[in-house]
Amino acid sequence: MLKLPYLLSFMAASVSSLLFPQPLGPYDVYCNTTKLVDTSRTDPFSPHQEYRAVLTTIFTPTLCPNPLKPRPYIPAATAKFYTDLFTTYGLTIPDGALASLQLQTCPDPPGPDSRAQPSKFPIIIFSPGLGTTRLFYTILAQSLASTGYIVISIDHPYDTEFLEFPDRTVVTAANITDDLVPLDVDARARDMSFVLDQLRLGAMGVRVSRTADVAVLGHSLGGAAAAEAMRQDSRFRVGINLDGSMYGPVVRQGPGDDDDDDDDERPFLLFGHENKTHVTDPSWVEFINSWGRGGVVELELEKAEHYTFSDLPSLLDLLGLDGRQVPAVKSMIGSLSGERALEVVRGVIEGFLAYGFCQGSPERLLKCLELYTEVEVVERC
Ligand SMILES: *[C@@H]1O[C@H](CO)[C@@H](O)[C@H](O)[C@H]1NC(C)=O
Ligand SMILES: *[C@@H]1O[C@H](CO)[C@@H](O)[C@H](O)[C@H]1NC(C)=O
Ligand SMILES: *[C@@H]1O[C@H](CO)[C@@H](O)[C@H](O)[C@H]1NC(C)=O
Repeated sequence: MLKLPYLLSFMAASVSSLLFPQPLGPYDVYCNTTKLVDTSRTDPFSPHQEYRAVLTTIFTPTLCPNPLKPRPYIPAATAKFYTDLFTTYGLTIPDGALASLQLQTCPDPPGPDSRAQPSKFPIIIFSPGLGTTRLFYTILAQSLASTGYIVISIDHPYDTEFLEFPDRTVVTAANITDDLVPLDVDARARDMSFVLDQLRLGAMGVRVSRTADVAVLGHSLGGAAAAEAMRQDSRFRVGINLDGSMYGPVVRQGPGDDDDDDDDERPFLLFGHENKTHVTDPSWVEFINSWGRGGVVELELEKAEHYTFSDLPSLLDLLGLDGRQVPAVKSMIGSLSGERALEVVRGVIEGFLAYGFCQGSPERLLKCLELYTEVEVVERC
């Protein structure tokens, strides 16, 4: 499982820490984590009827006036939880290895005289897969931010397997059975609207424009939540579902009544792993029909599996662990390298957002997709 040269380099590196490479975009990235409490809702999964409380990380493009600083990728207790979980899949991660991972970020929020004012960037609100920590999409979020988007990732309480708040309190997952999934999707969609409200009020310490374009992006159940959030809230102009089956009222009702006069269809991307398409997932057929065929683009990523759309491929590569040798792990992450998976997933998201926000031409979108030979166009707009 652990190749010797990698093990040696890991042991050398573990003396200090393992740094993810700086993202490739033109901007540095400022990150901050904030707990947000919605006092207008009790949490439907809380055994004590507490207010709904989400944990968010904001990734903001900036031009850093000071040297970048390492920032932990994952807090210690969460790292321990996932190290143990990976062991049950047959993947041994050395003690302390996950906790030693660091990002390179700008320690300061963009100042008033920064040439990269947050108010000029479009916004992406991100929701993770069922049970999966938002932290496992940090590299994707940082990478998108470096190209000029403000990205906010959300952990939804009682859904995330292990949600560690900054004060070290932990909320673990409720037993979300199939019949509770629509309630979970609804709660997540409301979280996405709430986070946008809070962002606009400045709760995350970054001033955004009220007129900035806003997209919703989600992986797996987060992709269903993104679609449901668009049905509930017309402020979300573009949506992307990475590899998630669809649940909730949006499957039958589509985008709902848009009370704006423009009856433009809001663009939505379904981006599945190899062989996950409307042919294999009936919820996608129903969704495409009710959303309106003209609004949906469907793509398939060859050599990918469900977690190719997360940080796991990059993370295992950085740790020097050949997860693809472990059958349970290969069936989660597929065979693309971490670097390539990130390049393609980020590139397709960017291409689709440029198309969706700017009302760009479908031809230009298809041209952009040609850069990625692993991407197959299943349905085009
Ligand atoms: C979750 O709930 C279902 C139905 O109530 C039950 O059958 C199952 O054992 C529960 N699972 C856990 C892990 O508690
Ligand atoms: C993070 O944001 C909070 C407000 O939510 C602010 O008080 C804190 O100073 C920020 N931290 C950093 C490192 O900028
Ligand atoms: C996808 O389907 C093709 C054709 O049925 C098959 O050859 C291939 O192994 C499948 N890939 C995966 C990842 O299941």
